[in-house]
Amino acid sequence: MATGRPVDFLNTFSDRTSIMRVLSGIQPTGRFHWGNYFGAIKQYIDLQNEAEDALYFIANLHALTTVRRAEELRSLTLDAAIDLLALGLDPSRATLFVQSDVPEVSELCWILMTGTPLGLLERCHAYKDKKAKGLSADTGLFAYPVLMAADILAYGSDTVPVGEDQIQHIEVARDLAASFNHHFGETFVMPKAKVLDTSARVVGTDGEKMSKSYDNTLVLMEDPKVLRKQIMRIKTDSRPMEEPKDPENDHLFQLFSLFADESQRDEMAAMYRRGGFGYGTVKKDLADLAVSHFAEARERRLELEAKPESVREILTDGASTARKKAAEVLLRAKRNCGVATE
Ligand code: ADP
Ligand code: TRP
Repeated sequence: MATGRPVDFLNTFSDRTSIMRVLSGIQPTGRFHWGNYFGAIKQYIDLQNEAEDALYFIANLHALTTVRRAEELRSLTLDAAIDLLALGLDPSRATLFVQSDVPEVSELCWILMTGTPLGLLERCHAYKDKKAKGLSADTGLFAYPVLMAADILAYGSDTVPVGEDQIQHIEVARDLAASFNHHFGETFVMPKAKVLDTSARVVGTDGEKMSKSYDNTLVLMEDPKVLRKQIMRIKTDSRPMEEPKDPENDHLFQLFSLFADESQRDEMAAMYRRGGFGYGTVKKDLADLAVSHFAEARERRLELEAKPESVREILTDGASTARKKAAEVLLRAKRNCGVATE
């Protein structure tokens, strides 16, 4: 992997001509929040209509590197599936499954690991950052990018939508694919990263990037009463009401803009610039818009929650479709490297 190399393998999100087979994964490490939705999930869902083939999975094996309570991991995995379906992921257009339900990926991970230089993984940020903080890391965290490469290569997908922080991992997947193909003959499709729209970066209740690590999230499809309370508690500054304010630098305005249409946004921006308003009004408008934005999805979520067996069925069907694809690629890899006996 070459961090200084020009990133010629990136698709910009607006370059839609080359989309064919899309694959991405999302970790069930906490309830999804507005940042996850606008920054990733919404874009995955939009892509299901454009791709020839779309596969999305819940990366529970990756999450196991951080979520170490069995019941918690199990329920976060189901919750993630419910959220994705409620938000519009359509099983007739996209295959949805749980990572660990495709054991072929773990087998492929080992095969790839046998040819993964230590130095390549030592440069990867998740491991490097932990080590830099003097914390001890597990092998799972170290080998995380190899499992991700196996996820990507197992399905022959060519387009991988990811946030900026995952670009390095796509480079690893490409390096491993290229080196395997070079050594053992053409086996893997070369994947490309499709970088998610970074302008969709969502601020949290404290004005920092919304992230579960900062405890500043607003959970997707929250109960309206709870959500309203959380919004009313969003931190604001203590400047006098009458003072004109710059909307662009205000996190409440940024959150409002996620849901507002153009005229609502312009009207609110004008009110900021005029001054003479209280943040309570903005909060109330934000809560109204957010509640109605997710109202339908929330209904669907409640329905799905009430029949988890139907969600499990979707995941089982998804895994069986995914396994067929992965088994083909795995067999090719095993034949080419000599571990398949036939
Ligand atoms: P968290 O920071 O809460 O741990 P993750 O790292 O699990 O979130 O993110 C999962 C996906 O959601 C990633 O693709 C990431 O780019 C996207 N994402 C997370 N937080 C935000 C945010 N505040 N704004 C935009 N996208 C986000
Ligand atoms: N590591 C990714 C993240 O944290 C999740 C993931 C696992 C993934 N395997 C993948 C994303 C394969 C894309 C392709 O966001």
